Amino acid sequence: MPTIFDPFDLHGLTLPNRILLAPMTRTRASEADVPTDLMRDYYVQRASAGLMITECTEVSDQAHGIIRAPGMHRQDQVDGWRRVTDAVHEAGGRIYCQLWHCGRVSHPEIRGGELPVGPSALAASGDFYLPRGRVDFPVPRVLEESELPGIVDTFARATRMAREAGFDGVELHGANGYLQDQFLQDGSNVRSDNYGGPVENRARLLLETAQAMTEAWSPERVGVRLSPSRA
Ligand SMILES: Cc1cc2nc3c(=O)[nH]c(=O)nc-3n(C[C@H](O)[C@H](O)[C@H](O)COP(=O)(O)O)c2cc1C
Repeated sequence: MPTIFDPFDLHGLTLPNRILLAPMTRTRASEADVPTDLMRDYYVQRASAGLMITECTEVSDQAHGIIRAPGMHRQDQVDGWRRVTDAVHEAGGRIYCQLWHCGRVSHPEIRGGELPVGPSALAASGDFYLPRGRVDFPVPRVLEESELPGIVDTFARATRMAREAGFDGVELHGANGYLQDQFLQDGSNVRSDNYGGPVENRARLLLETAQAMTEAWSPERVGVRLSPSRA
């Protein structure tokens, strides 16, 4: 019976132990969402884990939902992440990048006035915090079916950029009430097109995104995070 301290073969990537760092948003990127030295130090400090999964990382400007969350859609972000992955590898670690789209969970005030987007005209419940204090979530702009292939493409592009930035793999953030999870759950998705209704349709965006990411890299290097939360 293996213990938590025994190695694990993650489809060709050898993890020296079975302790994983969960993805955790730290909001330590620059104001332009570029990885910083503080982030590099944070991951280097934890590099003895079998595998680290980064904080959620925006795949586009549209995906932007948290102040000072890092991105993976511009060259300066790739360069910033390269400084992180190089330092982690020098310290003997392994690191996956969690790729993310906030969907409806954001606010126009941190998006240059743009409404966040979502599967249906239903606001998220709960609190959103701006520098000026607590606000309600807005009703999102409903995504047209014709816009969805473009969103899938941003995940494929971010996967290629993550590879260029020196990551060992990527994880699709399909959990915790963000875009793919908003489509998956019937509490946030009341569409009547190919992306709403039965679970086969509600899962379509998640599955298409995962497929595009595996084509952009390889199935061995792509994970998907799911969660049993209720939107
Ligand atoms: C401050 C904070 C930030 C988090 N950020 C992310 C994130 O970026 N992506 C993600 O998938 N989960 C995120 N999570 C969820 C954690 O990965 C984890 O699932 C959660 O803390 C529950 O784990 P626990 O039961 O071991 O505490 C975050 C949690 C916390 C507390």
